[in-house]
Amino acid sequence: MKTGIPNHIAVIMDGNGRWAKARHLPRAFGHRKGAEALRELLKSAIEIGIPYMTFYSFSSENWSRPQSEINDIMGLLRRYLQSELATFHKAGIRLKVIGDRSRLADDIILLIEDAERQTSDNDKLTVVMALSYGGRQEIVEAARNVALKVQSGSLDATEISEELFEKELYTKDIPDPDLLIRTSGEMRISNFLLWQLAYSEMVFVEKNWPDFTKKDLLFAIEEYQKRDRRYGSAAETA
Ligand code: IPE
Ligand code: IPE
Ligand code: MG
Repeated sequence: MKTGIPNHIAVIMDGNGRWAKARHLPRAFGHRKGAEALRELLKSAIEIGIPYMTFYSFSSENWSRPQSEINDIMGLLRRYLQSELATFHKAGIRLKVIGDRSRLADDIILLIEDAERQTSDNDKLTVVMALSYGGRQEIVEAARNVALKVQSGSLDATEISEELFEKELYTKDIPDPDLLIRTSGEMRISNFLLWQLAYSEMVFVEKNWPDFTKKDLLFAIEEYQKRDRRYGSAAETA
């Protein structure tokens, strides 16, 4: 089965630190450049006509980084949410944030809630930001919610199915990614969307995230279009 423009592209934006190191700059510069690359890429996604994009912005494991780097990233996020909201909204972007919000600063939580509310009716491009996100934690939380329903008697254990379980994930209204792109040459998932990536095509790009452009996105889509998505069935042409 040949495929056109992917409905949903997920991106692991990796290599900000190495981008900065190669230029003898502090890591914070790499994160800043990374945020600029994201802004440009969103414009490209709209031009190409991709309906859903998810970006891995901060993982649950990233909380183990030095506090100074966490502060830099959170400061950037705060400024980004403030400065980009109007542009996002005008461009028809619907923003959704997934992850463990309880670990974020109160003012950032409010900015996120405000941005989600303001953009909720937009339909050009849904941008999902994975923030303080961990795939295992998401699955455990879903399992706990299902268990609580069984315990309270509102659900019978025999009714638990993939469809029911998915409704407990952060991504309950978001289709699974068709394509996963990871930059910086690393070839691993790093606890990203463990459930949702079950049948996604993966494209690994050598460039660091701040250097990733529309051209690279189009190249990844071309690569995706060459793939034969079989979902476990026999090949069409033996
Ligand atoms: C990705 O770049 C951004 C975050 C994880 C927040 P890195 O900060 O991981 O950069 P490298 O991988 O160290 O180069
Ligand atoms: C994954 O990148 C998380 C984000 C891009 C936000 P990391 O740089 O944290 O992952 P590892 O440590 O290389 O697996
Ligand atoms: Mg990294």
